[in-house]
Amino acid sequence: LGKIKAGEDQPGLAVYDPGFVNTASCRSSVTFIDGDKGILEYRGYPIEQLAEGSNFLEVAYLLNHGALPTKAEFDAWEHEITYHTFVHENIKTFMEGFRYDAHPMGMLMASVGALSTFYPDARDIHDAENRHMQIVRMIAKMPTLGAWSFRHAQGKPFVYPDNELSYTANFLSMLFKMSEKTFEPDPRLVRALDVLFILHADHEQNASTNAVRSVGSTQVDPYSAVASGVGALYGPLHGGANEAVLRMLRRIGSKENIPSFIEGVKNGNEKLMGFGHRVYKNYDPRARIIKKAADDVFEVTGVNPLLEIALELEKIALEDEYFVKRKLYPNVDFYSGLIYEAFQFPPEMFTVLFAIGRTPGWLAQWLELVQDKEQKIARPKQIYTGARTLDFVPASERW
Ligand code: ACO
Repeated sequence: LGKIKAGEDQPGLAVYDPGFVNTASCRSSVTFIDGDKGILEYRGYPIEQLAEGSNFLEVAYLLNHGALPTKAEFDAWEHEITYHTFVHENIKTFMEGFRYDAHPMGMLMASVGALSTFYPDARDIHDAENRHMQIVRMIAKMPTLGAWSFRHAQGKPFVYPDNELSYTANFLSMLFKMSEKTFEPDPRLVRALDVLFILHADHEQNASTNAVRSVGSTQVDPYSAVASGVGALYGPLHGGANEAVLRMLRRIGSKENIPSFIEGVKNGNEKLMGFGHRVYKNYDPRARIIKKAADDVFEVTGVNPLLEIALELEKIALEDEYFVKRKLYPNVDFYSGLIYEAFQFPPEMFTVLFAIGRTPGWLAQWLELVQDKEQKIARPKQIYTGARTLDFVPASERW
């Protein structure tokens, strides 16, 4: 098709599709979404069932192996991941070198990238065993790097992994432990965070996954590819909406102010944050599950006073013609910020939590990419709009 040209100076047939809204960049068997019906499945399993009955490590296995594990397979997987949670001491030194006010997401992105220099074997992406090793390492080490980014911002010493704890309990321990005693988080909080990780584990070709695939298509090591995914997620249009929801709810302040706020949205003054989605034109299935997880968390932490406003806002919006007509429903971010706040995470940490949850998805997509014989280096076309064939005049003659 590229050879079809209308003339010598024409580019040939090309599709102009900014943001690749209508362009499939790959074939994938990892995640299925039907946005009109509000369906999300990992490897064919509905997200509702996985959130109800599975755990994050099993979902990570499912995404990266394509099928659910047997008991022996799961035990081996959990054991491997548990015993790769430590990072090299020089990574610790590296992280200690950041400014006191460094954004934890910037620290995470840099330290994931730095891991590539600690595991030069990762450059051999054609060896299956080697690929598996890097996948295990990265899923294992992300909570350590994420927790240390958090502790650094607080000026607190880094807490080493406690491999007697589960994946998610260990993460909470590295974040919040304040004494020599074993940290024992409330199991309801551990479960709620585990469910949040499950909900974020993959979402087909979103911006950060596309970044991982695009960079991965050069056959670079997976740490470098995932670091680019963290970078994409850092952007406010991707990972930052839940923080904006909290700001919005705080500004609304009380239920009485909701109608005038909604009027402002309808007049185009601002957006109702946490509503609407590029893909979902129905209730985001993850938002439904998060709402339930919020109840479980608030049972432990006490109710976030903003919840009342959020619930009322959702009720009013879902009955309002403006939102109904445009198929605007709550998305995953509408309630997640409220939960994270209840955990006492500062807003800068919200995206780090997202990144830890998304890591198995990024890796599953990377694995699929590097094994796909049809894949090529990601190199889109452009429609050139600049000048042509100008004559260069040296500076000495122009000035
Ligand atoms: N509040 C009010 N109106 C909205 C909203 C909103 N949250 N979202 C979309 N609309 C309106 C648009 O103004 C537009 O109206 P119009 O037809 O009168 O011009 C119509 O609905 C269609 O909107 P688009 O912008 O075309 O939808 P798109 O798919 O491009 O955008 C997006 C999706 C970016 C998520 C948008 O809905 C939005 O900005 N929502 C708020 C931010 C947010 O919650 N982001 C998190 C997304 S989930 C995630 O990234 C994990």
